[in-house]
Amino acid sequence: MNVQRVATGISELDSLLEGGYPKGHGMLVSGPPGAGKTILATHFLHQSCKDGKKCMLMLTHVNVESFLEQAENIGFDFRRCLENGTLLITKSFEVRTNKIQNASRLGSGIGFVEKDCVENVQEIPDDIEVVVIDNLDMLSLYHNVEEFADKFFTINDLLSTKRCTSLFLIGQEESGIKHSIAEHIAFGSLMLYTNRDERTGKGIRQLYIPKMRCTNISLEPVSFRITPAGIKIENIFQRDEILRDALESAV
Ligand SMILES: Nc1ncnc2c1ncn2[C@@H]1O[C@H](COP(=O)(O)OP(=O)(O)O)[C@@H](O)[C@H]1O
Ligand SMILES: [Mg+2]
Repeated sequence: MNVQRVATGISELDSLLEGGYPKGHGMLVSGPPGAGKTILATHFLHQSCKDGKKCMLMLTHVNVESFLEQAENIGFDFRRCLENGTLLITKSFEVRTNKIQNASRLGSGIGFVEKDCVENVQEIPDDIEVVVIDNLDMLSLYHNVEEFADKFFTINDLLSTKRCTSLFLIGQEESGIKHSIAEHIAFGSLMLYTNRDERTGKGIRQLYIPKMRCTNISLEPVSFRITPAGIKIENIFQRDEILRDALESAV
């Protein structure tokens, strides 16, 4: 059976993935803070809304305004999608900060205030086709390895059963063993990171796809930039040009 694809919102990434993310499956997107995880997910949400798919974004660490502000800054306006219900955003962040304020007023610890992420996923309406969880770091922070594995397995399974195409964002460096467990469980894994170009000494952003089931991936990291219009992946042609320039300047 051929796997159906869902457009990622970045045409070069679609080409790397035989047309897009495998439909109805969950992908891990990892990388340190500032790597571009939220922006990668913003492209996906915007494209999916444009294609008329009902989307849900679960924000755990920033408030809705701050997400919308960054999206608008790179040219994505979600106001109409929010008004017409194509995009639902859960206010997990606001709920948590309110609970933390109450807990500290009562002198309680804040660990208990974390609403079970599995519960949040169970409550997702049946007509949602696209889900982004930004991010899993709180789940990782509040649970030991076994609990994290059980919960992430359940979240991924619930969403696949609902046939949702999902992105799970995770800060790679904080997670270690939990990251590799999540990578085993997820259908695919995309890693964003920065490297130093040995020739120029400049920092470069790279995207590496170590795993994508049912997909012929190249295992070759590709360079990308974050611009005022979002993520731009350098195509093969550009890479050849850079290589040619490097060879010419070396002569
Ligand atoms: N308008 C812009 N122009 C250029 N780069 C930008 C712009 N907006 C954001 N960025 C870059 O994107 C980074 C944030 O990306 P983000 O997806 O939020 O990271 P993550 O979710 O991985 O922490 C910023 O640190 C900045 O480097
Ligand atoms: Mg982010």
